[in-house]
Amino acid sequence: MMTDDRLLDGVSIKQFSTERGIQATLHLGDCIAGMRKYIPDGSVDIVVTSPPYNLGVNYKGYDDTQSREQYLAWMGEWAAEIKRTLACDGSLFLNVGSKPTDPLVPFQLLDVMTEHFKLQNVIHWVKSIAILKSEVGDYPSITQDAVVGHYKPINSKRFLNDCHEYIFHLTKHGNVEVDRLAVGVPYQDKSNVSRWANGDGDLHCRGNTWFIPYETIKNRDKQRPHPATFPVELPSRCIRLHGVDRAGLVMDPFLGIGSSAVASVGLGARFVGFELVQDYFQESCERLAALIDER
Ligand SMILES: C[S@@+](CC[C@H](N)C(=O)[O-])C[C@H]1O[C@@H](n2cnc3c(N)ncnc32)[C@H](O)[C@@H]1O
Repeated sequence: MMTDDRLLDGVSIKQFSTERGIQATLHLGDCIAGMRKYIPDGSVDIVVTSPPYNLGVNYKGYDDTQSREQYLAWMGEWAAEIKRTLACDGSLFLNVGSKPTDPLVPFQLLDVMTEHFKLQNVIHWVKSIAILKSEVGDYPSITQDAVVGHYKPINSKRFLNDCHEYIFHLTKHGNVEVDRLAVGVPYQDKSNVSRWANGDGDLHCRGNTWFIPYETIKNRDKQRPHPATFPVELPSRCIRLHGVDRAGLVMDPFLGIGSSAVASVGLGARFVGFELVQDYFQESCERLAALIDER
């Protein structure tokens, strides 16, 4: 692996290359200014991102407590830049969550986004689910109750624990073909393989409820490097759904600690990202360097 560090107009840029050429370019700086300066019109095939939700998360160098009006206006600004940079047949996968006391954010955000894009799919990122044997009927593989995944429990007489977030699949015209079987699941009842599979083997469409648990922290002493990440499997699944063979360039304007960079490079897709906070940018660079080195 080769890395190239540059400082251009006060923006730190780190490029990761292998013998196959440039694999990833990470920018330390504001994504709106960065996209305007560095990303040509229509050059991005897939955007997978999770912006700050304006719910008062304790980021190191970003204030997540703007007024809702300010926040939504800012949202419109970066949405317009994503639209400009996205290819005609590109996909934007926008991950947004909320909190029990403020469940409206994803819907307000969607209002802004649909001024620029068509909503093609709504995917539910399920972080935790309870499946009770008594409720599922006759499934031979389910032999007992299962409660799986992780969520942040709250103590409340009014609200349920929040065990899911949205992934809005937004496209320019609502007609982008996706590769459903690339993220497909095996048939439970194998007699369906010959009935429905059309020569596609044992897989069928997974649907729009995606169970993706958080990666468990192996070392309890290690502090979480970032307060609001998504698991690498989330961007990886989005990229595979759009189609790895059509993933020429993947972008994440809100890089955090680089989960979408790790997913893209892991799938062999070129990546470009932006992050405002030095510590998160640094952690992204380290994760990516480790991934490229071990391959
Ligand atoms: C929800 S987090 C993204 C986490 C990321 N998906 C991950 O798994 O690591 C949003 C990130 O956006 C960054 N951010 C906020 N405003 C930004 C801006 N104007 N330009 C670039 N990054 C920004 C924050 O510092 C934060 O790390």
